[in-house]
Amino acid sequence: MPNVFLTPEGIKGNWHERFFKNNNPIIVEVGCGRGEYTVNLGRRHPDQNFVGIDAKGPRLWRGAKTYMDEGMPNGAFICGLVELITDYFAQGEVDEIWVTFPDPQHKPSRAEQRLVSNRFLKLYRQVLKPGGLIHLKTDNTALYEWAIQTFEENPGVQILKHTINVDQVSDLKELMSIRTKYENLFREKGETIKYARIALV
Ligand SMILES: C[S@@+](CC[C@H](N)C(=O)[O-])C[C@H]1O[C@@H](n2cnc3c(N)ncnc32)[C@H](O)[C@@H]1O
Repeated sequence: MPNVFLTPEGIKGNWHERFFKNNNPIIVEVGCGRGEYTVNLGRRHPDQNFVGIDAKGPRLWRGAKTYMDEGMPNGAFICGLVELITDYFAQGEVDEIWVTFPDPQHKPSRAEQRLVSNRFLKLYRQVLKPGGLIHLKTDNTALYEWAIQTFEENPGVQILKHTINVDQVSDLKELMSIRTKYENLFREKGETIKYARIALV
């Protein structure tokens, strides 16, 4: 599909001219899976551009096909590693990043693999605009608490909002009304959905 990139050579720094053909903000979803956020945000905000990244092609195929079927020009997908995000985007090319239901990577030895670890925050800083936002949405209490502690200890991070239960925060209602497959599974098990919004300063 023309909206899926394997190795987006030549597009780093050129997303607006070469793909989106506009100057609208670019919002990236890392570990997007089937791309539910990338798709639903794209439907709601035709004046913004969305790029989903996931290592697993069969998952992101779903989101890419929906964009094609609905004739939406404001979305693309990269089948690749989030670790390579600086190969995909130039400094300041990205306005916001969504991290939706990341693998918790329970083992302490895997902490650096968590998509909100300082290792990834450092990479995100290299593609985000100054003050760019990062949204984290998760069902996992341990990951959420670890992430908040990581953010609090990082002097380059400003926590703008965080909650252990999105259902209790009325001004998050619309943003949280997009529910991914994983979210629905966890909700059925009685988990609350956690959310944090940070800015890199
Ligand atoms: C638990 S799933 C969540 C999928 C989706 N965000 C959702 O909410 O339904 C985590 C996804 O992150 C992807 N992923 C994890 N680490 C990754 C990495 N370093 N690079 C690319 N994709 C990654 C996995 O392939 C998987 O699809």
